This record gives sequence, C-alpha cells and structure tokens, in this order.
Amino acid sequence: MEYIQIAIDGPAGAGKSTIAKKIAKCLDITYIDTGAMYRALTYKVLVNNVDIYNEEEIIKLARESDIKFFQENIYLDNQKVNEEIRSIEVNKNVSYVAKIREVRLILVNLQRKIALDQDVIMDGRDIGTHVLPNARLKIFLTASVEERATRRYTELKGKCNDISFNEIKKDIINRDKIDSERKSAPLVKAEDAIVIDTTGLSIDDVVEKIIDLLRGE
Ligand code: DC
Repeated sequence: MEYIQIAIDGPAGAGKSTIAKKIAKCLDITYIDTGAMYRALTYKVLVNNVDIYNEEEIIKLARESDIKFFQENIYLDNQKVNEEIRSIEVNKNVSYVAKIREVRLILVNLQRKIALDQDVIMDGRDIGTHVLPNARLKIFLTASVEERATRRYTELKGKCNDISFNEIKKDIINRDKIDSERKSAPLVKAEDAIVIDTTGLSIDDVVEKIIDLLRGE
C-alpha cells in the first residue's frame, strides 16, 4: 500500500506549521513538525550546558536521545517539551545544531521511519529535497522577511515581554542564512516543488490552495 506524503519546506516563519497542521486535520493524516525535533535536541544541548560548537558532544547527545511525537505533543526522553522548545534561546541556537551532518542523519532516519506506515504531511527545510524525495506534493512556502518577523513577533509577544521586533527579524535573517548555506541538506526549493508566497494571504487561502493542488485542480 502506498501512503500519501506531502512535503512543506521554506524559511523560518513562512507559516509552514500552522498550514501543515490545518491540512493534516482536513485530510485526517499525521502532521510531523521536523523543526521541533531539531529544537528538542537543541533544548537538551542547552540544558546540559554543552557548548553549541562542540559537535562531538552534540552528536553524542543526539545518539542518546529519545525524540517522539504522541497526540500532537513532542517528547524528549519521555518529557513533554512543547513549550520549552519554543524559547528565544532555542530559536537562537537551533540552526547551529541542525547544520551538523551526523545530527541530521539521525533525525532524518527517524523522520523517514515515521512516514513508512502512515499518511503524513511533514514540514521542514529539506523534506522535498531529501527526507521524502518522492512525496506526492511538494510545497515551498515563503513570505517577505518583514511579514515573517511580524508573525513571529506576534506569536512570541504574548509569552515574553522583553522581546523586540528587530531582534526577531535579525534572528530570522541569521537562521535563514545558516540553514541555506550549510553543506548538509540546506534549505533550497526542490526542483519539483510549487512555490507559494504567503505574503498578504490568509491561512485559509493557503490551505485551500494546497488542497486544490492535491486534488489536481
Ligand atoms: O521550522 P522551525 O523554525 O521550527 O525549525 C527550527 C530549525 O531547525 C531551523 O532553523 C532549521 C532546522 N531545521 C532543519 O534544518 N531541517 C528541518 N527539516 C527542519 C528544521
């Protein structure tokens, strides 16, 4: 039996997870947030006071870690870490962890395993190019840096008072640069991906567009 695979890639704050979650609900398929996996490992690196440039120690932690999803929650070594992985500290450091080749091998392996026996919509940076190269539909979501920073700012402002728009914008630009320039599976549009620029579009507009594409309309 062949399972449905949908790949959503794009830069930070393009709306990938919000949109992928909605599509998963509409189609009753599993949503996998691969960024959350890199974030969970980064959280563990920070909690263990491991230097963010100490690749050897980070790889060791990656090998020892148990990262899994259950009912829309992410667990790191059996601890629910939904909130912890969204901190500003994790935001700032995650791209350094995600560029380590061995870390990617371990997490990509897990991601492919999850997609082996169920229908999935997976979002990330390398899903269409690398994790699920045979996905039925590949979408590359983008939006202007201003709009992406505004979305993250609105999202984080509720949780944290001492955060500035400029700091968030700088972090997004820095992350995009590291994610796009790294050697191992960088952020790049798959040749057969369809680009959707979400600047000025509502979430529902984008969801509808993707569902139409899936139906071949
Ligand atoms: O989508 P996000 O912002 O939660 O992703 C966090 C970081 O993880 C992002 O800066 C790059 C990395 N990432 C990656 O390298 N590959 C993926 N498939 C998903 C995320």
